[in-house]
Amino acid sequence: MRAAVVTAFGGPEAVEIVDVERPEPGAGQIRIKVAAAALNPVDAGVRSGGFGGAGEQLGLGWDVAGTVDAADPATGWHIGDRVVALHHGPVKPLGAHADYTIVAAASAAPAPTTLDLTHAATIPLNALTAAQALDRLALESGQSLLVTGAAGAVGGYAIQLAAHRGIEVTAYAAETDEALVRSLGATHFVPRGTTPERRWDAVLDAAVIGAETLAWIRDGGAYEGVIPGATPPSERGVRTGTVEIADDGKRLADLVRLTDEGVLTTRVARTYPLTDAAKAHARLAEGGVRGRLVLVP
Ligand SMILES: NC(=O)c1ccc[n+]([C@@H]2O[C@H](COP(=O)([O-])OP(=O)(O)OC[C@H]3O[C@@H](n4cnc5c(N)ncnc54)[C@H](OP(=O)(O)O)[C@@H]3O)[C@@H](O)[C@H]2O)c1
Repeated sequence: MRAAVVTAFGGPEAVEIVDVERPEPGAGQIRIKVAAAALNPVDAGVRSGGFGGAGEQLGLGWDVAGTVDAADPATGWHIGDRVVALHHGPVKPLGAHADYTIVAAASAAPAPTTLDLTHAATIPLNALTAAQALDRLALESGQSLLVTGAAGAVGGYAIQLAAHRGIEVTAYAAETDEALVRSLGATHFVPRGTTPERRWDAVLDAAVIGAETLAWIRDGGAYEGVIPGATPPSERGVRTGTVEIADDGKRLADLVRLTDEGVLTTRVARTYPLTDAAKAHARLAEGGVRGRLVLVP
């Protein structure tokens, strides 16, 4: 089978398509025939060496949608089941950007019934991250949240999930994205690059602005970042933390249900054949992509 990997760190051109033996699922695992696999910023980070693994073959891809084509019978998954899954971890020999991929059965959830698998592939990594970040912020209905990077994948899901919980959401994004982020459920908007004139109960910093945003949080509020190891120190009683996605198929199933109910909406900017993975990386590196780039084997 074909797989997108990196054997020497670099720019988009470092992504290679290699032929490898189709892997077999072990205990507690399923094999997915990949229908679609989203490309995320973390894949660019792995490609350029941000997560280590020098000298190894590093498989790319965390987000997958497809059909179970082999499974440990004890998992309860059956051949032909349509699933989405998180392929967790930055340093691994093979990832989801491949013809077939192996995941822990507990990382998978039934695919949405109302979406095609290309859109479904954009759910796992970023919807789970947004949900887990909001859990950590522990806001109650009626409290206020500022989401930076609000037009991105994490930011967009965070707006929708927070609004669904009755949280008052302000989006911090480019002026050209105002209509988009309001359509996702933000009731207030702050243009990117400006200094807000109010304070919020919490900030979810999906744009990785960092310590500067602590001034935008009320005393005793909360800050949640998205880059492990880059959490700003607490000040004025503002609790600071960083979400680090946890593999959770049950939670993923809840999020899939929310997409089927229309609470969460998926966004695909463009699809690329798997063989054009390097071109997709080059497009992501240009910036300004709205919606996910999705690789289709
Ligand atoms: N910790 C975890 O477990 C975890 C999991 C998933 C993702 N992440 C991280 O979360 C971050 C967001 O991921 P994503 O997939 O949502 O990325 P994305 O889709 O590229 O979204 C990022 C958004 O932020 C915007 N942006 C950049 N600088 C900004 C600023 N100063 N103010 C407002 N908006 C700004 C970008 O606009 P432009 O495109 O115009 O630059 C883009 O719309 C990434 O760093 C990713 O690696 C962490």
